Amino acid sequence: MIKGFSKFSQEQKVDTLAAQFNLPVSFKETLRSHHHRELQGLYNQFAENTISNFYLPYNVAPGFVINKKEYAIPMVVEESSVVAAASKAAKFWSAHGGFSTKVLSVTKSGQLFFTTEWSFEELSALMPDITSALRCSVGEITHNMEKRGGGITGFKLTSESLVDEQTYCLMVSFETADSMGANFINTCLEKMGDALVTFLIQKNDNRHIEINMAILSNYTPECLVQCALSCPIEDLQAYSGVYSPQDFALRFKKAVSLAKHNPSRAVTHNKGIMNGIDAVVLATGNDFRAIEAGVHAYASRAGAYASLTDIVLENDTFTYTLKLPLALGTVGGLTSLHPMAKLSLLLLDEPSASELMQIVAAAGMANNFSAVAALVTSGIQKGHMKMHLSNILAALNADPMECQKAKKYFSERDVSHSAVKLYLDAERLKNKRHEY
Ligand code: MEV
Repeated sequence: MIKGFSKFSQEQKVDTLAAQFNLPVSFKETLRSHHHRELQGLYNQFAENTISNFYLPYNVAPGFVINKKEYAIPMVVEESSVVAAASKAAKFWSAHGGFSTKVLSVTKSGQLFFTTEWSFEELSALMPDITSALRCSVGEITHNMEKRGGGITGFKLTSESLVDEQTYCLMVSFETADSMGANFINTCLEKMGDALVTFLIQKNDNRHIEINMAILSNYTPECLVQCALSCPIEDLQAYSGVYSPQDFALRFKKAVSLAKHNPSRAVTHNKGIMNGIDAVVLATGNDFRAIEAGVHAYASRAGAYASLTDIVLENDTFTYTLKLPLALGTVGGLTSLHPMAKLSLLLLDEPSASELMQIVAAAGMANNFSAVAALVTSGIQKGHMKMHLSNILAALNADPMECQKAKKYFSERDVSHSAVKLYLDAERLKNKRHEY
């Protein structure tokens, strides 16, 4: 067992791992070749036990028109065809009214769990005094947030009687302006926990009170954004393939209904949304794990996991909407530290957190629209395989001429790693023979 690893220098960590797990020389070489020449010191500060960097592609989907403003959206994603799908939808919808987005609410919440001999009724009667004591305990911290337009917006006491009769949750609502606010909320909650103990002990020091935990909730159903796409059904010709635009719209509607009622399909449907969402969340230095957790909980709010999108076909018009919670920030945390996150925000014209919520929602909707459109027409493999072919060719070190010929050859054939390798080996052999 390796002991004291976190105290080692970066070089010692690598040497220790190589020795302990009998790793080849290439282990160290690959780590070293992924170091950043100038900024490694900065990257080392983001987490613990950093020994190198893990690169993901930094891509851009241009041509988004969101509420009449044009954006080129940065997307960090490794899955082939996600950026192509987003760009294709962006291009189509920019000519059909663009993405109409709206922030519906910006409230986040935190939870203070505690166990006490006080009854729910007694605590409820004391709530006005408790909340003013708690507000007072965090006055200094909330003062700055209030100046930026945020602060504490409410308190709600609930009983956790399913756990035990003496355990409660004080749910505190916050607005955090342009920051994601995790640190602000957690700091407030911990201080309020101490204040709650002090308050109740001052009231009656014979009764037991203990804090179980104080932490923000990543369930943010009141930090909601909505995105809508709408056009005459006949304009959908560009996507309808062998179908008429009307049939395409009906097939699309059925796909959305299936994702509403079949949870297994809903998960995949929503994954298509998250392809776009996570890519922008990552590119802007936001916490994609928090977003994922919150979005999927929201998708289950009615008791069964369901699609996040809705569709209406009425008066010859196709209207497609997405609603989801996105607790994002554009100041603080990694957004202000990571050079690429800063660059993304620059590319997006330094958006507020609310504007970023709308951009991210549009990216999710673009990806989902392209995915569902492909699924109900040609299927997704056609587009996927084109990108997959490029990846396989790159892995097999194909030169530009080989790539061009392979793409032509595979335009009518099934793509697989073995088929491409077989084709390339044969081509290379043929060319070698010609050289002699
Ligand atoms: C693949 O990354 C995403 C899709 O599976 C989404 C969907 O099925 O709607 C194509």
